[in-house]
Amino acid sequence: MKSLLLIAAFAALGAGAAGLLGWPAVRLLRRRSVALSLFCVAVVTVLAMTAGTVSVAQAMFLSSHDFGVVITVTCMAAVVSLVMAALLGRQVVAGSRALAVAARTVGSDDGFAAPAQPLGSELAALSAELAATSARLAESRTREQTLEASRRELIAWISHDLRTPLAGLRAMAEALEDGVADDPGRYHAQIRTEVDRLTGMVDDLFELSRIQAGALTLSLSRVSVYDLVGDAIAGADPLARERGVRLFGGQVEPAPVEVDGREMTRVLGNLLVNAIRCTPADGVVAVAARRSEDEVVLSVTDGCGGIPEPDLPRVFETGWRGVSARTPQAPAGGGSDGRHGDSGAGLGLAIVRGIVEAHAGRASVYNVNGGCCFEIALPAAAVLA
Ligand SMILES: Nc1ncnc2c1ncn2[C@@H]1O[C@H](COP(=O)(O)OP(=O)(O)O)[C@@H](O)[C@H]1O
Ligand SMILES: [Mg+2]
Repeated sequence: MKSLLLIAAFAALGAGAAGLLGWPAVRLLRRRSVALSLFCVAVVTVLAMTAGTVSVAQAMFLSSHDFGVVITVTCMAAVVSLVMAALLGRQVVAGSRALAVAARTVGSDDGFAAPAQPLGSELAALSAELAATSARLAESRTREQTLEASRRELIAWISHDLRTPLAGLRAMAEALEDGVADDPGRYHAQIRTEVDRLTGMVDDLFELSRIQAGALTLSLSRVSVYDLVGDAIAGADPLARERGVRLFGGQVEPAPVEVDGREMTRVLGNLLVNAIRCTPADGVVAVAARRSEDEVVLSVTDGCGGIPEPDLPRVFETGWRGVSARTPQAPAGGGSDGRHGDSGAGLGLAIVRGIVEAHAGRASVYNVNGGCCFEIALPAAAVLA
């Protein structure tokens, strides 16, 4: 027992001395290649083992033959360990080099090209992380390109929509200036209507930019859906009369909601004006409101004959008007504030969706028999019991 303790003490002494020498070397190499560090660790291990063995052998007064045997065995083990350490180092370095080459493909058009060779678990995790980052980058680039394209398209559309009435205004102003207008009163009225329509368009653009910039501040108050619908119907009534469309608001449950009254009136106004415009004379536009457990759903149903199924997901897009030609038609009346002409810039439903989503609600559309139904769902949070 005592001799075993002695052996342990001598071995610890020899190995400890090697370890003390090895630690500064490992520290010095920590900024160098990991292969070098691995090799250094193997050298220190071999030295520690050899020093321990030699000191024990010396203490045990082994014969020179036995001592030679011990040293030979130790040397063989040392050679194998060092070769293994060198091989392992090479493998680690090759893996990290392959990953460095692959990292250059992050965010490239062809996507992340993961290293073909097998990697250790840490490097494999890093590679998976790089692949996910690359996919996220590609996704956000696509999103940005789509946004940029739709922004450019919108600017082109808006410029077109503004240019045509402006050219008309200019022609009318010139005719009045030159005194060649045969009915100046009609020209003045027309100019007034066109200016109202342009003002509405600019107003819509401003509202949309506020929504998209997240700068829409809602002043919420408790109002009855009944009053909201009543106000909207009253506002759209002149246009409906002019078009010979019947407005029907019979199925409105008097549920209270917490909304920005002005913005919500704008939402219903936009929906009603669209519905009236799209419904033929003698048709019916119906407004309804129903209360379910966790939301209040307002709906505007028209008799437009239905929206083509492929167009349904697009109607809420900014600038979408469902027709490729963007030729403004003659204005036809307008809403209560003169904003609504017949030739909107395709912003109305984008504004509807923006305002409803700012209220944490949902705007949707589906076809019904003979027409379509636009629905606004306001969540339970906006409903006061
Ligand atoms: N109630 C509706 N019935 C049928 N189609 C509609 C209705 N409301 C909107 N649309 C379609 O969606 C398009 C976009 O509407 P909107 O955003 O209000 O723009 P705008 O009224 O300026 O055309 C309209 O041009 C029309 O084609
Ligand atoms: Mg509209």
